[in-house]
Amino acid sequence: MRRIGLRLIAEKKAAIVAETAATEKGRGVERKDITERDLLTLLIRANMATDIPESQRLTDDEVLAQVPTFIVAGHETTSTATTWALFALAQRPHVQRKLRAELLGVPTDGPTMDALNALPYLDAVVRETFRHHAPVPMSLREAVQDDVIPVGTPYTDKHGRVRETVEVRRGDLVCLPILALNRRCDIWGDDAHEFRPERWEDVPEAAASVPGVWGNLLTFLGGPRACIGYRFSVVECVPAAVFLSLPRQVCSELLGRTKALLFALVRAFEFELAVPAEDVKKQSRIVTRPVVTGPDGRAKASLPLIIRPYRA
Ligand code: HEM
Repeated sequence: MRRIGLRLIAEKKAAIVAETAATEKGRGVERKDITERDLLTLLIRANMATDIPESQRLTDDEVLAQVPTFIVAGHETTSTATTWALFALAQRPHVQRKLRAELLGVPTDGPTMDALNALPYLDAVVRETFRHHAPVPMSLREAVQDDVIPVGTPYTDKHGRVRETVEVRRGDLVCLPILALNRRCDIWGDDAHEFRPERWEDVPEAAASVPGVWGNLLTFLGGPRACIGYRFSVVECVPAAVFLSLPRQVCSELLGRTKALLFALVRAFEFELAVPAEDVKKQSRIVTRPVVTGPDGRAKASLPLIIRPYRA
């Protein structure tokens, strides 16, 4: 990561310097010159801008330190969410058809962020994917001191006592059950374990109690350490046309793009599972990925799909 990150930073810096020298007779970069939309270029250009004080600049090492965040916190999570969305769509042709009909109703291949956000069924499919297939299924916190955690509903402990708090000792690990909360029947109803985008037409009142930063869900967690990238993830931050016209290498730097990706993919292709659904297992190593056992007996992270160009 360090080797590739340093190379990318050097290449982007050289490109910015060459571009400025050629077009502006060496005036130097200013904030208004920042037009490239990929995240690393934005960061480097902002950092090189002559109208930003020295004290606000990042060192190359600090820029480099952002790369794992882009890749692990941003890219892995968002690409896994898109994979699970395709898994859900491949098993439900009616949902796939309904979504495609809505997407084909958009008169351009390059809708703006606002146009993407105005598509109700795309929104419902993305919300349901993040609810039902939360890419990060749980997280942990370590208690730094003895404490008590109040609970919403009293419970009976193993000694038969009704309790309203959970006591924790310093050093105890506390699990934050993201996926379990997203799929609670007392919040989402008896079909909470099913993938059903239509549920977002009428969100149950109980969902308002979920302290998540986005969408009545715990997918991006909540509170002061919630995900900083959730808006980026839910909808791409540039028009889809820009994203689609970029080479693959650049696309992988544009992290959060679930809606833009689904817009492009579902308009153009039909998806079907290439293996029985029960052969697709889940493996959680921070992020939950689909895994399939190959002919060599080894389980690998993959989702075999049959993909056909869509013909109206
Ligand atoms: C589907 C996409 C994503 C999911 C499901 C997701 C989920 C999460 C979760 C659950 C946390 C809290 C982890 C914890 O504290 O235990 C988190 C934190 C974080 N996420 Fe995301 N994330 C996504 C996309 C992104 C993107 C696109 C970025 C960056 C552009 C990003 C950057 C971060 C960072 C920096 C933190 C740490 C925040 C802090 O500790 O203050 N994430 N994310």
